[in-house]
Amino acid sequence: MRKKLIAANWKMYKTPDQARDFFRDFLPLVQAHDRDEIVVCPTYLCLDAAVTAAKGSSVAVGAQNLHWEKEGAFTGEVNAAMLLAVGATRVIIGHSERRQYFGETDDTVNLKLKSALEAGLIPIVCVGEVLEEREAGLTDDVLRRQCMRAFYKISAKKAAKLVVAYEPVWAIGTGKTATPQLASDAHIIIRGEAAKAFGQEFADNLRILYGGSVKPENATALMSEPEIDGGLVGGASLDPKSFSAIVKY
Ligand code: PGA
Repeated sequence: MRKKLIAANWKMYKTPDQARDFFRDFLPLVQAHDRDEIVVCPTYLCLDAAVTAAKGSSVAVGAQNLHWEKEGAFTGEVNAAMLLAVGATRVIIGHSERRQYFGETDDTVNLKLKSALEAGLIPIVCVGEVLEEREAGLTDDVLRRQCMRAFYKISAKKAAKLVVAYEPVWAIGTGKTATPQLASDAHIIIRGEAAKAFGQEFADNLRILYGGSVKPENATALMSEPEIDGGLVGGASLDPKSFSAIVKY
């Protein structure tokens, strides 16, 4: 049985005070909830506030990105050791907004994944096709390529904590959600690539989240799908009530 993981991706929203307010209201709503793992990924600037606010709860905190080098002259960047030092235990890697606006490539995703795993962070690697690729019938090829290159030269032992998120780009922030069947089909492709890279047993245990306009109204249908092992939630994770409703789908 794969324990479901519901993760909040706050993107570029909330100040530290607003992060504290969120946890004040959110934690009581999920206090007794141990069916699923809950993760909140705020901006770097709010990590400290989030970690402090989440202390003593079962909610884990993650970052939205990292740099792969141990240190150096990389203005504006943050590495795995720095994230761990402030108490973050997870990190999102290769989100489509980073691929689209900040030059993230399959190769940098691979470097970041290696560095996160090496440091002991739990990575959530995002893959997903854009609308033109889906319309051209290229979804499976795109997912295979993104996974193959993300997993390149990583051993199953090293990859043990890996989590993957399938996020069709056309569904992110658009209100268009993939149907549970469509998401499920994509998850099977991703699981197949994980089996090629890391073996069947690893693939059977790999958690693959769905992301893209997950809301309280569609969470039950998506999360009931056996192939879907949780969600990566953007917009609907900013409000404590709506995120807790998704967690408790
Ligand atoms: P959304 O974002 O839920 O606002 O569509 C999901 C994501 O980008 O992770």
